[in-house]
Amino acid sequence: MDFKECIETRRSIRSFEDKPISDDVLKEIITEASFAPSWKNTQCARYIAVKDPELKAKIGKCTSAYPHNGEIMASAPVVVCVTALKSRSGFERDGSYSTDRENGWTMFDTGVATYGFTLACHEHGIGSVIMGIFDRDDIEKVLELPEERELVCIVPIGYPAESPACPKRKTADDLLTII
Ligand SMILES: Cc1cc2nc3c(=O)[nH]c(=O)nc-3n(C[C@H](O)[C@H](O)[C@H](O)COP(=O)(O)O)c2cc1C
Repeated sequence: MDFKECIETRRSIRSFEDKPISDDVLKEIITEASFAPSWKNTQCARYIAVKDPELKAKIGKCTSAYPHNGEIMASAPVVVCVTALKSRSGFERDGSYSTDRENGWTMFDTGVATYGFTLACHEHGIGSVIMGIFDRDDIEKVLELPEERELVCIVPIGYPAESPACPKRKTADDLLTII
């Protein structure tokens, strides 16, 4: 799959085959995602791949604002919790903010890394959906996440059992101003 095909045909996948993903494939995907750019190469994104059915079900229950996300999580063979090391991206060594975006670069870097992760999944024939709606505090407790890390998003992944159409995109004319 070339770059154009990969970027244009990746879709959010919310229905998965009952087929496991090998640890070797997971490691290849994470290695590919590691090539994402990041603030001063701080590489703050960390991934927790939850395969354990009980743990997956526990996480899936922490979706009170949008239980459909929980159903998708429970049905995926792997639920990847994308976490970030705090106080790295956008910070100086003395702990002060580098810019007026303050802590915003942590989210930025993790988002960049997560998109690379989803493209790498797609290239391996694995579907994914980035999720932002979940009970963050509760899932951080379920994961026993250390204080220096925060949960940013959750990405259920698996071999796709659907091939959704591409939601309409804005055109380059809508998106681009050349001055
Ligand atoms: C930051 C972010 C949060 C999202 N949260 C959810 C979510 O909670 N549940 C869900 O089903 N999809 C979620 N999505 C997926 C979007 O709905 C999807 O990317 C968008 O509709 C475009 O479709 P596509 O990914 O197939 O191109 C999220 C995507 C992003 C980038």
